[in-house]
Amino acid sequence: MNEIALSVRNLTIEFPSESGRIRAVDQVNLNLERGKIMGLIGESGCGKSTVAFALLNSVPSPGIIVEGTIEYTGYGNLLKMTPEEQRLFRWQHVSVVFQASQNTLNPLKRIEDQIRELAQAHRIRDVRVLLERARSLCESLRLDTRRVLNSYPHQLSGGMKQRVGIMLALLLQPEIVLFDEPTTALDSLSQESVLQIIREIHQKDGLTGIFITHDLGIVSEIADTVAVMYAGRIVEISPTARVFSGPLHPYSQALLDALPRLTGDPRAARGLPGSPPKVVGNVSACLFRDRCPRRMPVCDLAAPELKRVDESSMAACFLYSESEEANVHVKMH
Ligand SMILES: Nc1ncnc2c1ncn2[C@@H]1O[C@H](COP(=O)(O)OP(=O)(O)OP(=O)(O)O)[C@@H](O)[C@H]1O
Ligand SMILES: [Mg+2]
Repeated sequence: MNEIALSVRNLTIEFPSESGRIRAVDQVNLNLERGKIMGLIGESGCGKSTVAFALLNSVPSPGIIVEGTIEYTGYGNLLKMTPEEQRLFRWQHVSVVFQASQNTLNPLKRIEDQIRELAQAHRIRDVRVLLERARSLCESLRLDTRRVLNSYPHQLSGGMKQRVGIMLALLLQPEIVLFDEPTTALDSLSQESVLQIIREIHQKDGLTGIFITHDLGIVSEIADTVAVMYAGRIVEISPTARVFSGPLHPYSQALLDALPRLTGDPRAARGLPGSPPKVVGNVSACLFRDRCPRRMPVCDLAAPELKRVDESSMAACFLYSESEEANVHVKMH
């Protein structure tokens, strides 16, 4: 049995709006195994980044975590820690790389001074060791180490700043790193070196992580398992190979069908018409039904829950829970 590093239960996050409280994340449950990278995919607006923010308890205002626990093995429920405990926990045990992580750099301080500050904030005495690690990470990320450490953020290009953000996220050797579109803004060479270093640290030091991206090619290369999100819910969790060879959920299949790169023939790509619904209040039907080629009568009557289908996979679809379908019919008549 593999050890669970992070366990999320019933995570529900809402954003108040004029049309009501939009449920951006709805009853999300997931286990992240130690040493594994989980890919998190789904169309724009389905809640991926909001989950990532929640895992650091930094959901942007006006978002509210209305329910749920975020349990880091050995450290307890993040949401129950004091602000000071949470501050120390971030970067040291879990860190994050955003698409625009460059914006998290302090514009008034040279990178080396920011590293010294990080050391101080986390009560790390031996700054020299930390700087040494920073240099080695910079090299792996194909950065001109001396120049980068001596520069202010505005003296670096966007791609360089993004890689500095990645260096800082890996610097304190956190057990878990969350990547939210970390390479989207990079040219393909820098992108490759970033993926290379993540893979290296994953293989050598057993880095555990969640990797959010729209690039399914990257997911197939880097992730051990894949979680598919739709309209704030997880609809499938499967080993990566299965997601690409024969996914369980019709939505996972639709995401693959919409992708020209993997089939090799752009003409074979089929777009997925429509867009995910915005959810307000409780859900009483399958949210994908209007776009689903395999819609059944039961899909209008209840929301399918994420359930284990077999040893390796979970899916939230009535295709895999016939008995439940029968139950709903019984209730109807
Ligand atoms: N700051 C905000 N204010 C109001 N609503 C928000 C805010 N951030 C997110 N939301 C709501 O949460 C939903 C999920 O957003 P989120 O950014 O998590 O999606 P995503 O899957 O990361 O999308 P993308 O692939 O485009 O990055 C949005 O559709 C929106 O309704
Ligand atoms: Mg996002």
